[in-house]
Amino acid sequence: MTLDTVRIRKDFPIFERTVRDGKKLIYLDSGATSQKPNVVIDAEMNFYRFHNAAVHRGAHQLAEEATDAYEGSRKLVADFIGAQNDEIVFTKSATESLNLLAYAMGNSDPGARFALLPGDEIVVSEMEHHANLIPWQQLCKRTGAVLKWFSIDSEGRLDLSSIDSIISKRTKVVAITHQSNVLGTINPLENIVARAHEVGAYVVLDACQSIPHMSINVVNLGVDFLAFSAHKALGPTGVGVLWGRAELLEDLPPFLYGGSMIETVTMTDSTWAPAPKKFEAGVPNMAQAVGLGAAVTYLSSIGLNEIHKHELSLTSYLINGLQNIPAVRIFGPATQIMRGGTVSFAVDEIHPHDLGQYLDSQGIAVRTGHHCAWPLNKKLGVAATTRASVYLYNDQSDLDALLEGVLGAQKYFSRFS
Ligand code: ALA
Repeated sequence: MTLDTVRIRKDFPIFERTVRDGKKLIYLDSGATSQKPNVVIDAEMNFYRFHNAAVHRGAHQLAEEATDAYEGSRKLVADFIGAQNDEIVFTKSATESLNLLAYAMGNSDPGARFALLPGDEIVVSEMEHHANLIPWQQLCKRTGAVLKWFSIDSEGRLDLSSIDSIISKRTKVVAITHQSNVLGTINPLENIVARAHEVGAYVVLDACQSIPHMSINVVNLGVDFLAFSAHKALGPTGVGVLWGRAELLEDLPPFLYGGSMIETVTMTDSTWAPAPKKFEAGVPNMAQAVGLGAAVTYLSSIGLNEIHKHELSLTSYLINGLQNIPAVRIFGPATQIMRGGTVSFAVDEIHPHDLGQYLDSQGIAVRTGHHCAWPLNKKLGVAATTRASVYLYNDQSDLDALLEGVLGAQKYFSRFS
């Protein structure tokens, strides 16, 4: 292991509590939401306690402090992903970021840069979670565009063998996940980005499961838009990010209309403020954005490369341990290559919900179900899986507990078979 998890866990107050009659909390559900360090909780609380006022309006000291804190956070997030300040749009979640983009494209005037015509194509993959599938599926329905997708192979990797026909001259958008929230697969972007740009399509990256766990620079990735949520990256709920290249955000029409996003207003028409304000109508989620600033500062202080290495070492340990238990099937890559710390598995003869409940009785929190990626579960031929996802505060003892828990569940449920 590469991180001092004993020290790190002291930063997270939730680990001071116990669960299920005094048992140690073994939290292996960070893929759903991460726990929060004191610095994030304090940043959000201190905003309300000392600086609360509506940003970008008001001529008083509090409004000035609130605006500085909110815009300061935008800069922290921009630096965190190698972007420019004005390219960071605060939304309420990654789901909203992706919907914003799909609706804004759908709001384009006919013939405008992002307008879609019947027969145009949008490409996704079979491993998308619903947030990066349904907005595009519905945009296709509204515009007559056609949804196409990459399938996955038996190892849980994207099948790119037909990339040149799947991404065609009719493709306008390629919306792809960076890391699968079920399989842990990290997708190779180079060929996808190159082919998409060759045909003039925009690449939208769903970075929900990658941004919290590895160092990311949007310029180096070469994508056009990127979405993530704060709450999976140690930040608060209620805030997400849409990043877009400056010149693209400039041409993208707004999605939500109202205060703060305008330049001029008359009774019959309005013009828009430049991005990112054009996309942040109304009084925004200020305290949450400030909390996100604290979260990315904390993550950077630990080091994203160290976090990724730590998680990979835990993932290998877990996969190895699960492979040694009879009747356990793992979905997704079984190696450390191009994968992250999310491991989904099934145990023969035990329904994932039963397994999840048994593990919970031992203080172990995992996620069970279709993980908001229903089509992927269908492709895997299962109704549900059990998913363990690791983060910087987990250590091998957490995984030992999980492995013992799986063995315990097999013993417990064998009585009923
Ligand atoms: N997409 C989130 C997860 O994987 C909700 O749990």
